[in-house]
Amino acid sequence: MDLDLKNKSVIVTGGASNIGRAITLCFASEGANITIADLDTDAGERVAKLALELGASDVQVVKTDITDLANVETTFAAAKQKFGSVDCLVNNVGWDDLMFFTQTTPELWDKLIKINYVGVLNCTRVALEHMTPNGGGSIVSISSDASRQGEPKEAVYGGLKAATNSFMKTIAKENGRYNIRCNCVCPGVTVPDSVEETSENSMWKDKDSMFTEEQFAAIAKSLPLKRLGRPQDIANAVVFLSSQKAASFITGQVLSASGGYSMIG
Ligand SMILES: NC(=O)c1ccc[n+]([C@@H]2O[C@H](COP(=O)([O-])OP(=O)(O)OC[C@H]3O[C@@H](n4cnc5c(N)ncnc54)[C@H](O)[C@@H]3O)[C@@H](O)[C@H]2O)c1
Repeated sequence: MDLDLKNKSVIVTGGASNIGRAITLCFASEGANITIADLDTDAGERVAKLALELGASDVQVVKTDITDLANVETTFAAAKQKFGSVDCLVNNVGWDDLMFFTQTTPELWDKLIKINYVGVLNCTRVALEHMTPNGGGSIVSISSDASRQGEPKEAVYGGLKAATNSFMKTIAKENGRYNIRCNCVCPGVTVPDSVEETSENSMWKDKDSMFTEEQFAAIAKSLPLKRLGRPQDIANAVVFLSSQKAASFITGQVLSASGGYSMIG
């Protein structure tokens, strides 16, 4: 199916690594104009090169810290300047450091809140300012199945992802009248194929620090689909929801792409 994303202007935050990288490449094969908004511009440029080879109309990498509103405004201005508009935003940046809640500190909470929630607020706020006068658009936020099921060692992160789900539903209700659709995609454990598919500060730079091989195998075995998530699994869901043609009547939804880990009716 042609998703009608050719020449659409898309911003992917955290587009230099793992899931964001796959999302960027998936939009590229649909012929979109892409702005990769990431702290790591070297990794971003490597993804941009690949995206052009896959058929992106054009790609730019803009060094962005999503926790800084003024910085986010500059990035959106760069997308509008180069591509004429911002049609789709993917709030993909996220970060966690796995540990039991009793081991966490207020300093860690603050960092988690800034990256996983304030960053989403900043980017969504600026996206709405661009999309409203432009006649509409799509915002997809990458949440997590940790927002839907309690996950040991992910208490603060899971709470912030649940906040993102709720925030996106309200934004969907407030902005449907402007033809702006807002949805969330929840991955489960989703691993890169190789370290080359991650950026310098990726959570997956050292896979073993997340889970042991035995734990990865046990997680895969526990899922109905009997395998771990691949970045492409998430990218497919994001690009579908971003397409006005494919998902024109879908807004305010939280979709798990996690091999059946969560089944919310
Ligand atoms: N991979 C998983 O198993 C998994 C599971 C559930 C949810 N998620 C969510 O999916 C999303 C992507 O995860 P991933 O595994 O691809 O992450 P990753 O760590 O591999 O990549 C994150 C990217 O975001 C960038 N980044 C970090 N902080 C930033 C900031 N302040 N401003 C701009 N860029 C910044 C990093 O440079 C990196 O390129 C996140 O929201 C994460 O919470 C991932």
